[in-house]
Amino acid sequence: MTAPIRKAVFPVAGLGTRFLPATKAMPKEMLTVVDKPVIQHVVDEARLAGIEEFIFVTGPNKHIIEEHFKPQAGLEQVLKDSGKLDELNVLQAGQLAPESVKFTLQEKPLGLGHAVWCARELVGDEPFALLLPDVLVQSSGKMCLAQLIEVYGQAGGNVIAVEEVPEENAHQYGVVDIERSNADSHPIRGMVEKPSPGTAPSNLIIMGRYLLQPEIFKILDAKERGAGGEIQITDAMKKLLESQTFTAVEYDGRSFDCGSKIGFQMANTAFALQREDLRDELIVELQKLI
Ligand code: G1P
Repeated sequence: MTAPIRKAVFPVAGLGTRFLPATKAMPKEMLTVVDKPVIQHVVDEARLAGIEEFIFVTGPNKHIIEEHFKPQAGLEQVLKDSGKLDELNVLQAGQLAPESVKFTLQEKPLGLGHAVWCARELVGDEPFALLLPDVLVQSSGKMCLAQLIEVYGQAGGNVIAVEEVPEENAHQYGVVDIERSNADSHPIRGMVEKPSPGTAPSNLIIMGRYLLQPEIFKILDAKERGAGGEIQITDAMKKLLESQTFTAVEYDGRSFDCGSKIGFQMANTAFALQREDLRDELIVELQKLI
């Protein structure tokens, strides 16, 4: 029996410099994709996968994320009183039970590995999900995290989502070395964060959804610096690979890097095209634009 994945960590401390001036006063995770903040799309993915506790690793100026996930009794009452029940439903559908939401502060931006380490006490001694909030995923069936949890039920250990990118782009990511099989999930035998161009072991990149065992925290305790002088989660995973299994899942779906301007625009278009209330009109308008 594998221990259930009940908790998810969301590292939301990044500065969002690529989106200035939009992110001068507003966290990048609160930028809107269609009609929900990016972070809510990611939280919804976790909720639909059965996650019960949501741990946000925040930085300075991120209190608005806390506000977003708190119930707003006043607003709910106004919607009720004015008979705006659809709007009330939308609001309540995205809400998390207050006791299921936890925040912890990453005081210094020392890297993704460090952000995850900041959640160690809230996670405790159990496996957990890690979702990078810059990455949104669309799939026709189960969302990416739910697919990972399904594989985890069989494989146990650590499970991460991977996807193919053109070879010349692999150096921008964490890259895995796998034992290829015919299935969609493969045993990982190595990984490297931001390899020098031309040296990546494959074109399968670590996409931004992970299921990790708590032993990762002991490795992160060492606070070793890697690519870019940052404490990297990939380096810690590589160490953990010496004693535990890692499975790479080529999940069904596609991802959008909302940390880039093009990725963010594409996410808006793709998510709007998935919406019955917007799709037809949007297609007509897009055709006019192009
Ligand atoms: C992070 C991870 C990297 C992963 C990427 C996915 O890098 O360190 O392994 O491939 O996210 O977006 P970053 O984008 O923060 O440089």
